[in-house]
Amino acid sequence: MNFYALIPAAGSGSRMGGTIEKQYLDLNAVPMIAHAMMVLARAPRITRIFVVLSPTDRRWNNYAWQGWEDRIEVLRCGGETRAETVLNSLDAIAKICTPDDWVLVHDAARPCLPDEMLAKLLDEVADDPVGGLLAVPVADTLKRAAADPASGARVEATVPRAGLWQAQTPQMFRHGKLTEALRAAGADMTDEASAIEQLGLQPRLVESDSRNLKVTYPQDLELAGMILRKLYE
Ligand code: CTP
Ligand code: MG
Repeated sequence: MNFYALIPAAGSGSRMGGTIEKQYLDLNAVPMIAHAMMVLARAPRITRIFVVLSPTDRRWNNYAWQGWEDRIEVLRCGGETRAETVLNSLDAIAKICTPDDWVLVHDAARPCLPDEMLAKLLDEVADDPVGGLLAVPVADTLKRAAADPASGARVEATVPRAGLWQAQTPQMFRHGKLTEALRAAGADMTDEASAIEQLGLQPRLVESDSRNLKVTYPQDLELAGMILRKLYE
């Protein structure tokens, strides 16, 4: 049984608001995607890392990526949505994976995954029949906004947070089951676990923390820089 990592990096980063796809934004002197690659490459159990780019990506080749040749394989089969990107790449690697091999899908936009968190996910899920994901119990009080407020956003209700977790990545599932789940679920799933849940399965939640944030808005990039300095100081 092997562990493969898949880094979807075919998004445009529209919520960052800039012209450079966010996976290539400079973060502590390297493109953001390199941080996700480094954490996965340091994990001894992971045999290979697939980086999934858009077929129209023009930036990857601007970097030398020296020393990475043996650890990563670049797939240029990104799709219109994240789910399509992941499904296309599962199909692309089907000839080298067995259905029982694990695939860890990890966002290019999560640069601050601590090594010990990745190890914890592998430890807790490697023997699980379904698979699982890193996630954080919700800490804030949650408000639902009224659908059509007369003036600005207004609270319609407070949503009880008990039992609610925020999903992160990596999310790890077996190649065969994940392929089946994503093919059945369609293109709109925002994470792998949702597709697996639609098969009636219950992915394992492995408790993580807020350091493993996803860089979505410009202010997240600055925060990620601070977390990385703290992690590796
Ligand atoms: N992703 C992908 N293919 C897509 C869309 C997203 O591979 N069609 C990847 C992104 O590159 C990112 C991860 O999925 O690494 C998480 O997605 P998200 O944070 O939503 O990134 P973007 O879609 O690029 O950003 P936005 O939604 O703001 O446009
Ligand atoms: Mg997106």
